[in-house]
Amino acid sequence: MEKNEIDTPALLVDLDALEWNISEMRDDLTTIGRHVRPHIKVHKSPAIANMQARSGCIGVTCAKLGEAEVMASSGIRNILIANQIVGPVKVDRLVGLARQSDVMVAVDNAENALEISKAAAARGSTVGVVIEVDVGFKRAGVQPGESVSSLAKKMARMENLRLAGVMGYEGHLQGIASLEERTRMVQKSVGQLVDSAKQLRRDGFECEIVSTAGTNTYGIASRIDGVTEVQAGSYTVMDNFHAVEGVKFRKALTVLTTVTSTPEPGRAIVDAGLKAFADTTPFPLPKERIGIRVTELSEEHGHLDTSREKDLRLGERMEFYPFYAPTTVNLYEKVYGMRGDHVEVQWQIAARGRSQ
Ligand SMILES: Cc1ncc(COP(=O)(O)O)c(C=O)c1O
Repeated sequence: MEKNEIDTPALLVDLDALEWNISEMRDDLTTIGRHVRPHIKVHKSPAIANMQARSGCIGVTCAKLGEAEVMASSGIRNILIANQIVGPVKVDRLVGLARQSDVMVAVDNAENALEISKAAAARGSTVGVVIEVDVGFKRAGVQPGESVSSLAKKMARMENLRLAGVMGYEGHLQGIASLEERTRMVQKSVGQLVDSAKQLRRDGFECEIVSTAGTNTYGIASRIDGVTEVQAGSYTVMDNFHAVEGVKFRKALTVLTTVTSTPEPGRAIVDAGLKAFADTTPFPLPKERIGIRVTELSEEHGHLDTSREKDLRLGERMEFYPFYAPTTVNLYEKVYGMRGDHVEVQWQIAARGRSQ
Protein backbone atom coordinates (compact mmCIF):
# COMPACT_ATOMS: atom_id res chain seq x y z
CA MET A 1 0.00 0.00 0.00
CA GLU A 2 1.23 3.51 -0.80
CA LYS A 3 0.59 6.78 1.03
CA ASN A 4 -1.83 8.02 -1.62
CA GLU A 5 -4.04 4.95 -1.00
CA ILE A 6 -4.52 5.70 2.72
CA ASP A 7 -7.91 7.11 3.63
CA THR A 8 -7.84 10.26 5.75
CA PRO A 9 -7.60 11.58 8.37
CA ALA A 10 -4.94 9.03 9.29
CA LEU A 11 -2.06 8.79 11.70
CA LEU A 12 1.36 8.08 10.18
CA VAL A 13 4.71 7.36 11.73
CA ASP A 14 7.95 7.74 9.81
CA LEU A 15 9.79 4.52 10.63
CA ASP A 16 13.27 5.89 9.91
CA ALA A 17 12.72 8.71 12.39
CA LEU A 18 11.09 6.42 14.97
CA GLU A 19 13.97 3.92 14.83
CA TRP A 20 16.52 6.71 15.01
CA ASN A 21 14.84 8.20 18.09
CA ILE A 22 14.72 4.85 19.89
CA SER A 23 18.38 4.04 19.25
CA GLU A 24 19.55 7.57 19.97
CA MET A 25 17.96 7.50 23.44
CA ARG A 26 19.31 4.00 24.11
CA ASP A 27 22.86 4.91 23.00
CA ASP A 28 22.88 8.16 24.94
CA LEU A 29 21.80 6.58 28.21
CA THR A 30 23.74 3.33 27.89
CA THR A 31 27.01 5.24 27.66
CA ILE A 32 26.34 6.91 31.01
CA GLY A 33 24.96 3.80 32.71
CA ARG A 34 21.33 4.84 33.01
CA HIS A 35 18.24 2.84 32.10
CA VAL A 36 15.40 3.88 29.81
CA ARG A 37 11.87 3.07 30.95
CA PRO A 38 9.92 4.84 28.19
CA HIS A 39 6.49 6.25 28.92
CA ILE A 40 4.11 4.61 26.45
CA LYS A 41 1.29 7.15 26.80
CA VAL A 42 2.65 8.87 23.70
CA HIS A 43 2.26 5.92 21.31
CA LYS A 44 0.03 3.47 23.24
CA SER A 45 1.19 0.77 20.88
CA PRO A 46 2.42 -2.64 22.07
CA ALA A 47 4.40 -3.03 18.83
CA ILE A 48 6.40 0.14 19.48
CA ALA A 49 6.84 -0.73 23.17
CA ASN A 50 8.25 -4.11 22.15
CA MET A 51 10.63 -2.40 19.70
CA GLN A 52 11.84 -0.31 22.61
CA ALA A 53 12.20 -3.40 24.80
CA ARG A 54 14.24 -5.14 22.07
CA SER A 55 16.45 -2.06 21.81
CA GLY A 56 17.43 -2.45 25.47
CA CYS A 57 14.84 -0.53 27.51
CA ILE A 58 14.28 -2.15 30.90
CA GLY A 59 10.50 -1.93 30.80
CA VAL A 60 7.83 0.67 30.27
CA THR A 61 6.14 3.46 32.18
CA CYS A 62 2.35 3.83 32.00
CA ALA A 63 -0.02 6.45 33.33
CA LYS A 64 -3.02 4.15 33.58
CA LEU A 65 -3.75 0.65 34.77
CA GLY A 66 -5.58 -0.06 31.52
CA GLU A 67 -2.43 0.82 29.56
CA ALA A 68 -0.38 -1.44 31.84
CA GLU A 69 -2.77 -4.35 31.22
CA VAL A 70 -2.42 -3.91 27.45
CA MET A 71 1.37 -3.78 27.72
CA ALA A 72 1.47 -6.87 29.96
CA SER A 73 -0.69 -8.86 27.57
CA SER A 74 1.71 -7.98 24.75
CA GLY A 75 4.59 -9.56 26.66
CA ILE A 76 6.13 -6.56 28.42
CA ARG A 77 7.10 -7.78 31.86
CA ASN A 78 8.53 -4.81 33.73
CA ILE A 79 5.97 -2.04 34.16
CA LEU A 80 5.91 1.11 36.23
CA ILE A 81 2.53 2.75 36.68
CA ALA A 82 3.68 6.29 37.41
CA ASN A 83 0.39 7.22 38.96
CA GLN A 84 -1.82 6.35 41.92
CA ILE A 85 -4.20 3.40 41.72
CA VAL A 86 -6.97 4.01 44.20
CA GLY A 87 -10.20 2.26 45.16
CA PRO A 88 -11.19 -1.41 45.42
CA VAL A 89 -12.09 -1.99 41.76
CA LYS A 90 -8.75 -0.79 40.44
CA VAL A 91 -6.66 -2.15 43.29
CA ASP A 92 -8.09 -5.60 42.65
CA ARG A 93 -7.04 -5.34 38.98
CA LEU A 94 -3.61 -4.08 40.00
CA VAL A 95 -3.06 -7.01 42.30
CA GLY A 96 -4.22 -9.40 39.57
CA LEU A 97 -1.77 -7.83 37.13
CA ALA A 98 1.03 -8.15 39.66
CA ARG A 99 0.53 -11.92 39.58
CA GLN A 100 1.43 -11.98 35.86
CA SER A 101 4.01 -9.21 35.54
CA ASP A 102 6.57 -7.30 37.49
CA VAL A 103 4.43 -4.25 38.23
CA MET A 104 5.35 -1.24 40.29
CA VAL A 105 2.95 1.52 41.20
CA ALA A 106 3.54 5.04 42.51
CA VAL A 107 2.18 5.76 45.99
CA ASP A 108 2.08 9.00 47.92
CA ASN A 109 -0.28 8.10 50.74
CA ALA A 110 -0.20 5.47 53.50
CA GLU A 111 -3.94 4.84 53.24
CA ASN A 112 -3.58 3.91 49.59
CA ALA A 113 -0.51 1.78 50.35
CA LEU A 114 -2.48 -0.12 52.98
CA GLU A 115 -5.34 -0.72 50.56
CA ILE A 116 -2.89 -2.23 48.05
CA SER A 117 -1.11 -4.23 50.74
CA LYS A 118 -4.34 -5.81 52.03
CA ALA A 119 -5.55 -6.69 48.54
CA ALA A 120 -2.16 -8.16 47.62
CA ALA A 121 -2.07 -10.25 50.80
CA ALA A 122 -5.60 -11.51 50.13
CA ARG A 123 -4.64 -12.61 46.60
CA GLY A 124 -1.18 -13.90 47.54
CA SER A 125 0.73 -11.48 45.32
CA THR A 126 3.36 -8.84 45.98
CA VAL A 127 3.18 -5.38 44.46
CA GLY A 128 6.23 -3.22 43.86
CA VAL A 129 5.86 0.38 44.99
CA VAL A 130 7.82 3.54 44.36
CA ILE A 131 7.22 6.61 46.47
CA GLU A 132 6.19 9.52 44.30
CA VAL A 133 7.94 12.71 45.32
CA ASP A 134 6.64 16.15 44.35
CA VAL A 135 9.71 17.78 42.83
CA GLY A 136 7.92 21.09 42.29
CA PHE A 137 5.26 20.17 39.71
CA LYS A 138 2.57 20.32 42.41
CA ARG A 139 0.69 17.39 40.96
CA ALA A 140 0.78 14.21 43.08
CA GLY A 141 3.61 13.21 45.39
CA VAL A 142 4.84 13.64 48.94
CA GLN A 143 7.18 16.49 49.72
CA PRO A 144 10.88 15.64 49.38
CA GLY A 145 12.94 14.58 52.41
CA GLU A 146 11.37 13.65 55.74
CA SER A 147 7.89 12.88 54.33
CA VAL A 148 9.39 10.27 51.99
CA SER A 149 11.09 8.43 54.85
CA SER A 150 7.99 8.76 56.98
CA LEU A 151 5.85 7.04 54.29
CA ALA A 152 8.51 4.34 53.84
CA LYS A 153 8.45 3.63 57.59
CA LYS A 154 4.68 3.21 57.54
CA MET A 155 4.86 0.92 54.50
CA ALA A 156 7.56 -1.20 56.15
CA ARG A 157 4.84 -2.43 58.52
CA MET A 158 2.57 -3.47 55.64
CA GLU A 159 2.68 -6.91 54.08
CA ASN A 160 3.04 -7.88 50.41
CA LEU A 161 4.54 -4.57 49.30
CA ARG A 162 8.08 -4.26 47.93
CA LEU A 163 9.60 -0.80 48.13
CA ALA A 164 11.57 -0.41 44.90
CA GLY A 165 12.55 3.25 45.16
CA VAL A 166 11.35 6.75 44.36
CA MET A 167 10.04 8.60 41.34
CA GLY A 168 9.45 12.23 40.48
CA TYR A 169 8.36 14.10 37.39
CA GLU A 170 9.44 17.65 36.72
CA GLY A 171 6.51 18.29 34.38
CA HIS A 172 6.48 22.01 35.19
CA LEU A 173 9.93 22.38 33.61
CA GLN A 174 9.33 20.58 30.27
CA GLY A 175 8.12 23.71 28.50
CA ILE A 176 11.02 26.04 29.43
CA ALA A 177 12.44 27.15 26.09
CA SER A 178 15.89 28.19 27.24
CA LEU A 179 18.23 25.24 27.76
CA GLU A 180 20.27 27.18 30.28
CA GLU A 181 17.28 27.98 32.46
CA ARG A 182 15.84 24.47 32.06
CA THR A 183 19.18 23.00 33.16
CA ARG A 184 19.35 25.14 36.28
CA MET A 185 15.75 24.35 37.26
CA VAL A 186 15.99 20.61 36.55
CA GLN A 187 19.16 20.26 38.59
CA LYS A 188 17.44 21.86 41.55
CA SER A 189 14.20 19.91 41.15
CA VAL A 190 15.69 16.45 40.49
CA GLY A 191 18.32 17.15 43.15
CA GLN A 192 15.46 16.96 45.68
CA LEU A 193 14.51 13.51 44.41
CA VAL A 194 18.05 12.21 44.65
CA ASP A 195 18.43 13.67 48.16
CA SER A 196 15.21 11.93 49.20
CA ALA A 197 16.63 8.63 47.93
CA LYS A 198 19.82 9.18 49.93
CA GLN A 199 17.79 9.90 53.04
CA LEU A 200 15.80 6.70 52.53
CA ARG A 201 19.00 4.67 52.30
CA ARG A 202 20.40 6.34 55.42
CA ASP A 203 17.19 5.26 57.16
CA GLY A 204 17.92 1.68 56.16
CA PHE A 205 15.58 1.27 53.17
CA GLU A 206 16.39 -0.24 49.80
CA CYS A 207 16.11 2.37 47.07
CA GLU A 208 17.12 0.65 43.89
CA ILE A 209 15.18 2.92 41.54
CA VAL A 210 15.38 6.70 41.20
CA SER A 211 13.14 7.35 38.20
CA THR A 212 12.30 10.68 36.61
CA ALA A 213 12.26 12.95 33.55
CA GLY A 214 10.44 13.66 30.32
CA THR A 215 11.78 14.24 26.84
CA ASN A 216 12.75 17.86 27.43
CA THR A 217 14.50 17.25 30.73
CA TYR A 218 15.99 13.75 30.45
CA GLY A 219 19.31 14.99 29.01
CA ILE A 220 19.85 17.06 32.14
CA ALA A 221 18.23 14.76 34.71
CA SER A 222 20.07 11.65 33.53
CA ARG A 223 23.44 13.36 34.19
CA ILE A 224 22.59 13.99 37.84
CA ASP A 225 24.38 11.54 40.12
CA GLY A 226 21.92 9.15 41.71
CA VAL A 227 19.28 9.08 38.95
CA THR A 228 19.02 5.46 37.78
CA GLU A 229 16.50 5.67 34.95
CA VAL A 230 14.43 8.05 32.84
CA GLN A 231 10.72 7.83 32.02
CA ALA A 232 10.72 10.04 28.92
CA GLY A 233 8.20 8.97 26.31
CA SER A 234 7.51 11.64 23.72
CA TYR A 235 11.03 11.34 22.28
CA THR A 236 9.77 8.18 20.54
CA VAL A 237 7.58 10.01 18.01
CA MET A 238 8.05 13.68 19.01
CA ASP A 239 5.77 16.65 18.37
CA ASN A 240 5.91 20.44 18.23
CA PHE A 241 5.64 20.87 22.02
CA HIS A 242 8.82 18.92 22.62
CA ALA A 243 10.84 20.51 19.82
CA VAL A 244 12.77 22.99 22.00
CA GLU A 245 16.43 23.92 22.39
CA GLY A 246 18.59 20.94 23.33
CA VAL A 247 16.10 18.26 22.20
CA LYS A 248 17.49 16.49 19.16
CA PHE A 249 14.84 13.86 18.40
CA ARG A 250 13.15 13.74 15.02
CA LYS A 251 9.46 14.40 14.49
CA ALA A 252 8.09 11.06 13.32
CA LEU A 253 4.35 11.45 13.81
CA THR A 254 2.01 13.17 11.37
CA VAL A 255 -1.67 13.36 10.58
CA LEU A 256 -2.45 12.87 6.90
CA THR A 257 -5.39 14.94 5.67
CA THR A 258 -7.24 15.68 2.42
CA VAL A 259 -8.25 19.10 1.12
CA THR A 260 -12.05 18.97 0.99
CA SER A 261 -12.85 22.57 0.10
CA THR A 262 -11.13 25.57 -1.46
CA PRO A 263 -13.78 28.25 -0.79
CA GLU A 264 -11.73 31.21 -2.08
CA PRO A 265 -8.14 31.99 -3.10
CA GLY A 266 -5.85 31.86 -0.07
CA ARG A 267 -8.13 29.59 1.94
CA ALA A 268 -8.63 25.83 2.12
CA ILE A 269 -10.28 23.29 4.37
CA VAL A 270 -8.94 19.85 5.25
CA ASP A 271 -10.86 16.90 6.68
CA ALA A 272 -9.13 16.99 10.07
CA GLY A 273 -10.18 19.18 12.97
CA LEU A 274 -10.22 18.82 16.72
CA LYS A 275 -11.35 15.20 16.46
CA ALA A 276 -8.27 14.36 14.41
CA PHE A 277 -5.66 16.42 16.27
CA ALA A 278 -7.02 16.98 19.79
CA ASP A 279 -4.97 20.17 19.72
CA THR A 280 -6.13 23.64 20.38
CA THR A 281 -3.46 26.32 20.10
CA PRO A 282 -0.70 26.35 19.05
CA PHE A 283 -2.07 24.67 15.97
CA PRO A 284 -0.45 21.77 14.08
CA LEU A 285 2.35 22.64 11.65
CA PRO A 286 2.53 21.46 8.03
CA LYS A 287 5.28 18.96 7.21
CA GLU A 288 5.77 20.43 3.74
CA ARG A 289 4.68 23.73 2.18
CA ILE A 290 5.51 25.34 5.46
CA GLY A 291 4.05 28.73 4.48
CA ILE A 292 0.58 27.23 4.98
CA ARG A 293 -0.92 28.01 8.38
CA VAL A 294 -3.72 26.35 10.33
CA THR A 295 -5.90 29.23 11.50
CA GLU A 296 -8.69 27.31 13.24
CA LEU A 297 -9.71 23.77 14.11
CA SER A 298 -13.40 23.08 14.31
CA GLU A 299 -14.63 19.60 15.10
CA GLU A 300 -14.12 18.04 11.69
CA HIS A 301 -12.56 20.89 9.69
CA GLY A 302 -9.05 22.24 9.61
CA HIS A 303 -9.04 25.84 8.37
CA LEU A 304 -5.96 26.78 6.35
CA ASP A 305 -4.51 30.09 5.26
CA THR A 306 -2.72 29.28 2.02
CA SER A 307 -2.06 32.86 0.92
CA ARG A 308 1.71 32.52 1.27
CA GLU A 309 1.87 29.38 -0.90
CA LYS A 310 0.49 28.21 -4.22
CA ASP A 311 -3.23 27.45 -3.70
CA LEU A 312 -4.11 23.90 -2.75
CA ARG A 313 -6.18 21.76 -5.09
CA LEU A 314 -9.32 19.89 -4.05
CA GLY A 315 -8.39 16.34 -3.03
CA GLU A 316 -4.73 17.25 -2.45
CA ARG A 317 -3.07 15.66 0.61
CA MET A 318 -1.48 17.63 3.44
CA GLU A 319 0.47 16.20 6.36
CA PHE A 320 0.73 17.97 9.72
CA TYR A 321 2.83 17.56 12.85
CA PRO A 322 0.48 17.67 15.86
CA PHE A 323 1.30 20.06 18.65
CA TYR A 324 1.01 17.36 21.32
CA ALA A 325 1.35 13.74 20.21
CA PRO A 326 -0.07 11.86 23.25
CA THR A 327 -3.56 13.33 22.95
CA THR A 328 -3.56 13.03 19.14
CA VAL A 329 -2.54 9.35 19.17
CA ASN A 330 -5.34 8.59 21.61
CA LEU A 331 -7.87 9.39 18.86
CA TYR A 332 -6.71 6.69 16.44
CA GLU A 333 -7.17 2.95 16.27
CA LYS A 334 -4.10 2.34 14.16
CA VAL A 335 -0.96 4.01 12.92
CA TYR A 336 0.60 3.49 9.50
CA GLY A 337 4.34 2.81 9.66
CA MET A 338 5.80 4.59 6.62
CA ARG A 339 9.09 3.92 4.84
CA GLY A 340 9.11 6.95 2.59
CA ASP A 341 5.76 6.83 0.78
CA HIS A 342 5.36 3.08 1.28
CA VAL A 343 3.25 1.61 4.09
CA GLU A 344 5.55 -1.00 5.64
CA VAL A 345 3.39 -1.92 8.60
CA GLN A 346 0.11 -1.06 10.34
CA TRP A 347 0.08 -1.13 14.14
CA GLN A 348 -2.92 -1.21 16.44
CA ILE A 349 -2.94 1.52 19.07
CA ALA A 350 -4.24 -1.04 21.50
CA ALA A 351 -3.99 1.11 24.63
CA ARG A 352 -5.90 3.99 23.07
CA GLY A 353 -8.75 5.16 25.27
CA ARG A 354 -7.54 3.00 28.17
CA SER A 355 -8.05 5.75 30.68
CA GLN A 356 -9.39 3.49 33.42
C1 LIG B 1 5.09 10.74 35.30
C2 LIG B 1 5.54 11.03 33.92
N1 LIG B 1 6.73 10.54 33.50
C3 LIG B 1 7.19 10.76 32.27
C4 LIG B 1 6.46 11.48 31.35
C5 LIG B 1 7.00 11.58 29.95
O1 LIG B 1 7.14 12.83 29.48
P1 LIG B 1 7.39 13.11 27.92
O2 LIG B 1 6.22 12.58 27.18
O3 LIG B 1 7.51 14.59 27.90
O4 LIG B 1 8.64 12.45 27.53
C6 LIG B 1 5.23 12.02 31.75
C7 LIG B 1 4.43 12.85 30.83
O5 LIG B 1 3.39 13.37 31.10
C8 LIG B 1 4.75 11.78 33.06
O6 LIG B 1 3.56 12.26 33.48
